[in-house]
Amino acid sequence: MPILSSALGRIKPSPTIAVTNLARELKAQGRDVIGLGAGEPDFDTPEHVKAAAIEAIRRGETKYTAVDGTPELKKAIQGKFRRENGLDYALDEITVGTGGKQVLYNALMATLDPGNEVVVPAPYWVSYPDMVLLAGGTPVPVTCPEQTGFKLRPEDLEEAIGPKTKWVILNSPNNPTGAAYTEAELKALTDVLVRHPQVWVMTDDMYEHLVYDEFRFTTPAQVEPRLKDRTLTVNGVSKAYAMTGWRIGFAGGPKELIRGIGVIQSQSTSNPSSVSQAAAVAALNGDMGFLPERNEVYRQRRDLVVDMLNEADGLRCHRPEGAFYVYPSCAGVIGRRTPAGTEIGTSEDFARALLAEEGVAVVHGSAFGLDPYFRISYATSTEALEEACRRIIRFCGRLEG
Ligand SMILES: Cc1ncc(COP(=O)(O)O)c(C=O)c1O
Repeated sequence: MPILSSALGRIKPSPTIAVTNLARELKAQGRDVIGLGAGEPDFDTPEHVKAAAIEAIRRGETKYTAVDGTPELKKAIQGKFRRENGLDYALDEITVGTGGKQVLYNALMATLDPGNEVVVPAPYWVSYPDMVLLAGGTPVPVTCPEQTGFKLRPEDLEEAIGPKTKWVILNSPNNPTGAAYTEAELKALTDVLVRHPQVWVMTDDMYEHLVYDEFRFTTPAQVEPRLKDRTLTVNGVSKAYAMTGWRIGFAGGPKELIRGIGVIQSQSTSNPSSVSQAAAVAALNGDMGFLPERNEVYRQRRDLVVDMLNEADGLRCHRPEGAFYVYPSCAGVIGRRTPAGTEIGTSEDFARALLAEEGVAVVHGSAFGLDPYFRISYATSTEALEEACRRIIRFCGRLEG
């Protein structure tokens, strides 16, 4: 009998984490590598958040807490949903997990039976399909082409929904494309969902605060209140507050679902870190004045990267509304050869050769379900980004064929 389960055989390790680790290893060997793979802010956690964590340790808040979050944190989350999203959740309609990732995972584990389908717009965050598979469900990817700004069209959503559909996952702003839905675009999707009362909506709003050019963020249950009793609104502190390492994510949703998520958590990890929960309270209740300045930096970096990549021979880069990613097409370099003799047949070949020959780490598009593209995270210093783009332009300029 094999040691590893058949469930494990259905999934693969996160390719984004693999690229980040490879870039780290090459750097440790002394190679000059610019890593554009990691999906985390290069900014620091705000000082008042750190101070709150230190205070919590001093007060002795170092023990188990309620499995799905302290009352203080749930109140802070309740306030955040009201203030920022116009959503009213009771405290027993809120759950806290070890990162948004755990909340999403628990929700799928708590709800999927074999044969259940989950509609996943592609390009997608790498973890959605694998989490669905691990939970015994079937991911149903729906292509969102570059021509629609990588956004799901209502008619494609309608077509993807069938009798076996349990969830539709929406993610705006999106990882890996940065695409964010306007209120009208979201309404067109929720209009479809209203017509399918058996379908639940999992909205991953992790990048809510990272939007540029006056873009106004909205979330499905806010745009269409009739969906609220079958929507799980997932969010967290990782991206907006530069708190990826603290591992706090949360969700609001119907009580029965929230209870189910808590049951999975109670038999796996129990509560998220007590200290991190205290830090998240300070983040959510605290001043967000640090954000506009950071967002302006992100916006400038986005524009820098988009403009430079559009100069590269064979690349084409769409300018997205949010997050800190761009998703350029590398269709124009497929079939060409690098000076070292590597034939570029796929986006993975492109990413591998770029790393080997120019020391720039990006993530190939096949990992995200729409190819031939690649993902760049611009959550890194402007100097590093400029140098990386220069190397990409040089790399593309030297391709033969
Ligand atoms: C779209 C999306 N959802 C969820 C997460 C997970 O966030 P967390 O670090 O809070 O687990 C990420 C992290 O990269 C993400 O990009």
